[in-house]
Amino acid sequence: MNKELRQAVIAGNWKMNKTRPEAKALIEELKPVAEKATCGVVICVPFTNLETAVELTKGTNIKVGAENVHFEKSGAFTGEISADMLTEIGVEYVIIGHSERRQYFGETDETVNKRTKAALAAGLKPIVCVGELLWERKCDITKEVIARQIKLDFFDVSAEDIKKSIIAYEPVWAIGTGETATAEQAEEVCLFIREQLAEKYGKEVADSVTIQYGGSMNPKNCAELLAQPDVDGGLIGGASLKAQDFGVLLDAATNG
Ligand code: PGA
Repeated sequence: MNKELRQAVIAGNWKMNKTRPEAKALIEELKPVAEKATCGVVICVPFTNLETAVELTKGTNIKVGAENVHFEKSGAFTGEISADMLTEIGVEYVIIGHSERRQYFGETDETVNKRTKAALAAGLKPIVCVGELLWERKCDITKEVIARQIKLDFFDVSAEDIKKSIIAYEPVWAIGTGETATAEQAEEVCLFIREQLAEKYGKEVADSVTIQYGGSMNPKNCAELLAQPDVDGGLIGGASLKAQDFGVLLDAATNG
């Protein structure tokens, strides 16, 4: 990453893991591990663990995020959580448009865009996920797919607001599969995303946006990925559930 222009952020995505006692134990283990990190440290946890996480991370450098947010303020949306409900308990970040939500829960670029705008309006920092499917990569349309997602997901988002957003490039074929994009593949797409942002918002704004890589990032491959100039941290699934592994990633982002 380019440290002069932006901050690397390592964000854990716990997905549907950890009961409350398990969450407490992991956060207690994470605190000393994260203490010296100079990169941003975020843990995105299930809704039921948010209050616990906010409480236990008070006074530390660990920030808390949710894994989804609804775009309406309130109303008949059974099972959903609004942005205000998150901010009122001290949540600062939220993952939006993760490929699992797109794949299993009917998330579309339109709803990603609505959620992103609702999150920003409430003062949450969105971590917006984009990424191509394996067959899209095979058909050599990765850049078209990414360009379309960036256009749609950030439709009508101002320059001021894009600066508060994080973009996570997560090739769908690399998520939870143990298969990682090579450092060159990750850099190529992260740079492409930055170029798309530069076209819309200008180079200065584009240079200030944190663009993460996500997809099987782990202690073995993180140094090479994080050494790429346009890879500004990572969105981490599996490796965020083990404090020691997460610590290696934080060190790599801190030193990289
Ligand atoms: P993974 O998940 O690190 O387990 O591949 C990443 C993600 O889904 O955000």
